[in-house]
Amino acid sequence: MEKTKITTILETSNLSYAYSDGKKALEDVNIKFLRGSRSVVLGANGAGKSTLFLLLNGLYRPTSGKIFFDGEELVYSTKFLRKLRSRVGVLFQDPDTQLILGSLREDISFGPMNLGLERKVVEERVERALIATRLEKYADSAVHSLSYGQKRRAGIAGLLAMDPEVLILDEPTAGLDKRSQQELFDLLKELIDQRGISVILSTHDIDLAYSWADYLYLIDSGRVVANCVDCTSAAIFDFFTQGFSKFASCGFVPPQVIELYSELKRVGIFSSNNKGHNDTQYPHSMSELIKIIKEL
Ligand SMILES: Nc1ncnc2c1ncn2[C@@H]1O[C@H](COP(=O)(O)OP(=O)(O)OP(=O)(O)O)[C@@H](O)[C@H]1O
Ligand SMILES: [Mg+2]
Repeated sequence: MEKTKITTILETSNLSYAYSDGKKALEDVNIKFLRGSRSVVLGANGAGKSTLFLLLNGLYRPTSGKIFFDGEELVYSTKFLRKLRSRVGVLFQDPDTQLILGSLREDISFGPMNLGLERKVVEERVERALIATRLEKYADSAVHSLSYGQKRRAGIAGLLAMDPEVLILDEPTAGLDKRSQQELFDLLKELIDQRGISVILSTHDIDLAYSWADYLYLIDSGRVVANCVDCTSAAIFDFFTQGFSKFASCGFVPPQVIELYSELKRVGIFSSNNKGHNDTQYPHSMSELIKIIKEL
């Protein structure tokens, strides 16, 4: 079978950014985000995640270095930025900067209408986005009257209606309850598997990064300090276990599932007498670990 060629969709080259007060938020960042991948930018508060994302969609301009989208260097003309933003959707960390218009339906319609699509197509996209984010019953509510979690889901609905190739999500799980988080990941999985969308998300949740990423970049004080590219189950497990000192120096504790699995191994639960277990199993979530235990 012919292997699908993996291509870079967004790339930064020696990217640096300083705020106007002189604060260096990013320094010499080199990252390749691949088409159809699940990329995670992991970093503690203040590491530079939001700054990076604001650069990737052209809202900020690099102090030095370059950004490429689909092989083309970003230029800051209205025409280029329009094209970029129709293909790359960004969920901002603060939902109040994302939502602007009166009712939720109007707000979600704004992006696709600006693309010049027919009214009927816009209406269909908006309905689909409302259903996917379970916000149908709030369609006619004023956006400012929504709760924080609903606003975050509304931001995602607005992006979905644009039908982007890349979704950049700044801490998408913040403020979402467990059910909404699960639904978001089910939706992202569907978008990646069925439409080949690329998802780039930021988080300071190491459990989420470990369970979700196939490409992971750890950033600290504006620099990439570790990365795991094209991570198989085993590779990302090793990355988190063997190279943990890099995470620890950024203030992280190991993913809970790795801690529990390692402890169970240490006390002999997975001894060679237990035929149901072998050393090629790498649980990425509590449910996967429970499945391994049940199979013993
Ligand atoms: N408007 C600003 N002016 C000056 N410095 C800023 C500004 N916004 C962010 N910074 C600084 O830039 C650095 C990176 O901030 P950024 O918001 O990108 O971090 P983050 O990783 O998104 O953090 P968080 O997890 O808290 O969202 C921080 O040291 C922050 O203090
Ligand atoms: Mg941030």
